[in-house]
Amino acid sequence: MTILNGVALAFVLSLCIPMCTGSYDHFKFVQQWPPAVCDTSGCKRSGLSRFTIHGLWPNNKTYVKNQPTCLTNRANSIKATILTSSNLVSKLSTSWPDVKNANDNDFWNKQWDKHGTCSLQTYDQAQYFERSYNMWKETNLTKTLDSLIKQTPRQQNVTDIEQLIQGVTATEKKPLLRCEQSHSNASKSLLKEIVICYAHNGITVIDCVSRPKSTFECYDGFWFP
Ligand SMILES: *[C@@H]1O[C@H](CO)[C@@H](O)[C@H](O)[C@H]1NC(C)=O
Ligand SMILES: *[C@@H]1O[C@H](CO)[C@@H](O)[C@H](O)[C@H]1NC(C)=O
Ligand SMILES: *[C@@H]1O[C@H](CO)[C@@H](O)[C@H](O)[C@H]1NC(C)=O
Ligand SMILES: *[C@@H]1O[C@H](CO)[C@@H](O)[C@H](O)[C@H]1NC(C)=O
Repeated sequence: MTILNGVALAFVLSLCIPMCTGSYDHFKFVQQWPPAVCDTSGCKRSGLSRFTIHGLWPNNKTYVKNQPTCLTNRANSIKATILTSSNLVSKLSTSWPDVKNANDNDFWNKQWDKHGTCSLQTYDQAQYFERSYNMWKETNLTKTLDSLIKQTPRQQNVTDIEQLIQGVTATEKKPLLRCEQSHSNASKSLLKEIVICYAHNGITVIDCVSRPKSTFECYDGFWFP
C-alpha cells in the first residue's frame, strides 16, 4: 500500500467507524450456480460447473428491502488492495470468479465497495475476502449438493436442498434459495443462488430471513440446469 492509499484508507476508516457501526446485524453469504447465471443473465465465462461466490453481504434483518451501503462513493481509494496477496488472489480466482463479465478484479472491487465496506468494523478487506473464501470452502455446495446435481430429471424441491445444506452447517438454520425464470423457457424456474446466513460475527450460522414476496423465491419443481 502506498502512503497516499494508506492516508486515504485511514480517512475512510475514520468516517466509517462512527457511520458504519450498527449498520448491519447479520451476513448473507450468496453463492451462485454458474449454469443458471449463464442461462438467465448471459455470461462471458461459461462451462463452470461448481458453485461460486456472488458475495458476502452485510444485511439488516428489520430492513430487508435494501441492504445497507456504506461507502459506495468513497471507496475508490481503497480499491485494489485485495491484490497485495497473491495467495488470496489465487483463492479468489477459484472461489469467486466473475462469471458474467469475466473481469475478476472489477467484480471483487464492486462487491467490496457495495457490501464489504459495510462490515469494516468486523472485517478489514483482507479478512473479509479470506472469510468469504473460508465460507465457500466450509460449505462446499458443489460437494454438498452433488447427488442432486447428478440427478435426472433435474427437477428439485426446496426441502431436499435445505436438508443437505443443514447437514453440512450442522444446524437447523434455514438457507434461502433463489430462482429465476429460464431465458429459453419461461415456464422453467432455475435454481440460481443459495444464501446461507451468518450472525454479526460472520461465524455462527443463523436462519435467513426472506424478503416479503420476493420474486426470486424458489417453488418446488424448479430445475437445476
Ligand atoms: C436496521 O434498519 C432499521 C431501519 O432502518 C434501523 O432502525 C436499525 O437500527 C438497523 N439495525 C442495525 C443493526 O443497524
Ligand atoms: C469440495 O469438494 C470436492 C469434492 O466433491 C473437492 O474436490 C473440492 O476440493 C472441495 N473444495 C474445497 C475448496 O475444499
Ligand atoms: C422432495 O423430493 C423427494 C424426491 O426427490 C421426495 O421424496 C419428497 O417427498 C419431496 N418433498 C416434497 C415436499 O415434495
Ligand atoms: C419448458 O419447461 C417445461 C417444464 O417446466 C417443460 O414441460 C416444457 O416442455 C419446456 N418447453 C420447451 C419448449 O422446452
